[in-house]
Amino acid sequence: MRIERLTIRNFRVFKDVTVADLPPLAIFVGANGSGKSTLFDVFGFLRDALHDNAHVAVTKRGGFKELRSRDSEGPISIEVKFREDDGPLVTYLLEVDETGGRACVTREVLKYKRGRHGKPWHLLDFTRGAGTAVTNESEYDGAASEMKREEQRLESPDILALKGLGQFEKFKTVSAFRRIIEHWHLSNFHIEDARPSQESAYAEHLSPQGANLPLVTQYLYERHPDVFKRILERMSQRVPGVQKVTAEATVDGRVVLRFQDGAFRDPFIAKYVSDGTIKMFAYLVLLHDPSPHPLLCVEEPENQLYPTLLRELVEEFRDYARRGGQVLTSTHSPDLLNAAALDEVYWIEKRAGFSTIVRAADSEQLRALVEEGDTLGDLWKQGLLGSVNP
Ligand SMILES: Nc1ncnc2c1ncn2[C@@H]1O[C@H](COP(=O)(O)OP(=O)(O)OP(=O)(O)O)[C@@H](O)[C@H]1O
Ligand SMILES: [Mg+2]
Repeated sequence: MRIERLTIRNFRVFKDVTVADLPPLAIFVGANGSGKSTLFDVFGFLRDALHDNAHVAVTKRGGFKELRSRDSEGPISIEVKFREDDGPLVTYLLEVDETGGRACVTREVLKYKRGRHGKPWHLLDFTRGAGTAVTNESEYDGAASEMKREEQRLESPDILALKGLGQFEKFKTVSAFRRIIEHWHLSNFHIEDARPSQESAYAEHLSPQGANLPLVTQYLYERHPDVFKRILERMSQRVPGVQKVTAEATVDGRVVLRFQDGAFRDPFIAKYVSDGTIKMFAYLVLLHDPSPHPLLCVEEPENQLYPTLLRELVEEFRDYARRGGQVLTSTHSPDLLNAAALDEVYWIEKRAGFSTIVRAADSEQLRALVEEGDTLGDLWKQGLLGSVNP
């Protein structure tokens, strides 16, 4: 499943922006304050709105005064177009505005087209807590069966119909979209927090900052030995100087990792290996998660990694996306960009207080230069990615 297109209106620095043709791995570059983290937070906003309600999602972000684009009017609006395998292109639209001091869902639509032509089918169409929803279709079937629509009312106008209508649990389209939003994950490693010396507890997934790395290591070691073995093998392939990584359970149930450096007889334990080594290990644990996130956003993965490792990391991102999880990442690193393909790169450019997002593949000049063998990081350094400079 993949998000193909995203339109954002009145959401902070994005007054009116569309990101088109999103590939399985998309890499965003842009100056400080151009909106990279804001772009990822659009999914955080959707998740909060779905999990709690629109009011909570807005309030957590400082209320309309902070969240709505400055000096701008109209609802905060997010439109996501996504597709599941060979399924139809599905559109989800959410508009949130302020009514009497509270956030209110002024429009929520989920629709798709059956076949290339014809009118889109609205699975749901709601305004301020009331609207119509289909009650009799649970699959994309080409059959001409008439959809049955019913008027429905939600408990409150700040709840999403996506969540509030019980019948949608069996709808394939709806559960596909809910899965993307509910399992969306933001990774922003603070590697000093991930040093293995934590009290025992339990974790299956790596936390956003990576602080539970020792626990997830232990979980994989015990419950997914095949995945764990693959991570250790990748570690020795990806990190020069790390010849072999072994793991050993201690009597108190922790897992001690030993990193064998080719030059020395005795391995180093994880506490004493370099930041970059631990960070690469943390990325491998994140990216080999036995149940991958359908949408993974990664903030500036380059910190602490040696430039040549970034190429390996981009390969790992692509592998992850191939296994079914889309990856969006932000970067300030020309070296990371040097490993990127033309259609994977976007730049975010701020002008007069608001940002636009430009697809590198839409520049004829870049396309020609890449075809001649230039790499995107070098072209970026030469100032050829809009006015965005590293
Ligand atoms: N309501 C708003 N209207 C317009 N701009 C806003 C609004 N709220 C925040 N901003 C601006 O949006 C920008 C947000 O930047 P963001 O944190 O997304 O940037 P970034 O690209 O992640 O930067 P960095 O590289 O430093 O992490 C800031 O410059 C901030 O001033
Ligand atoms: Mg940021």
